[in-house]
Amino acid sequence: MENIIIAPSLLAADFSRIGEEARRAFASGADWLHLDVMDGHFVDNISFGPAVCAAVRQAVGRGAFLDCHLMIERPDHYFGRFVKAGADLITIHAEAATSVVINDTLQAIRQAGVLNGLAINPATPFEAVETYLPHLDLLLVMSVVPGFGGQSFMPSVLEKTRLAAEWKQNHDSRLNIQMDGGINTQTARDCIAAGANVLVAGSSTFRATDMAEAIQLLRSTRS
Ligand code: DX5
Ligand code: ZN
Repeated sequence: MENIIIAPSLLAADFSRIGEEARRAFASGADWLHLDVMDGHFVDNISFGPAVCAAVRQAVGRGAFLDCHLMIERPDHYFGRFVKAGADLITIHAEAATSVVINDTLQAIRQAGVLNGLAINPATPFEAVETYLPHLDLLLVMSVVPGFGGQSFMPSVLEKTRLAAEWKQNHDSRLNIQMDGGINTQTARDCIAAGANVLVAGSSTFRATDMAEAIQLLRSTRS
């Protein structure tokens, strides 16, 4: 059985102590740390940019895995700054640009020595990303409309996770299937059953009374 990767989202952390919060996630057993970058255009919120990502990299050291989720327009223009800031994985949105730009950017991310990811919003059909799958390290199936933490999980997106898992099996692929938004011990079960292997969780990890226990519970959730 595939290992489940838990990626707490820093969006739910205490921003006044961001370095400590990033270290707390790894000390509590996080596999990856998820960094939600929002530009106020692609989504209706502004979070943080490359300078904060670089500060987080400095706080956690070289070995810790930083998963940068770019909810921005012009990922082609900005991704290089996140490479410099120390990202290990850069995910861009299928809805952010034309397919030519998406294709070129996915390739350029890999050429920069970083893993690539492609995210789809709840309203975007699986067919919109199918052609990219052979060229991806990760597919992110959004389980909320991106922009804010603390929203409710949308079960309707699970069908896309199932289709991605079917594709993965048919192609004997090592594609990571990530889900993000409203994930807790209840919804995690459905994500894993549908074939997801990377779970992003903000509120249910950073805001838990015991973060280590919350991460452990998410990881051990099985259908
Ligand atoms: C939403 C972000 C998520 C968010 C998840 O736009 O992409 O990563 O932080 O937060 P929770 O787990 O609280 O739904
Ligand atoms: Zn995210």
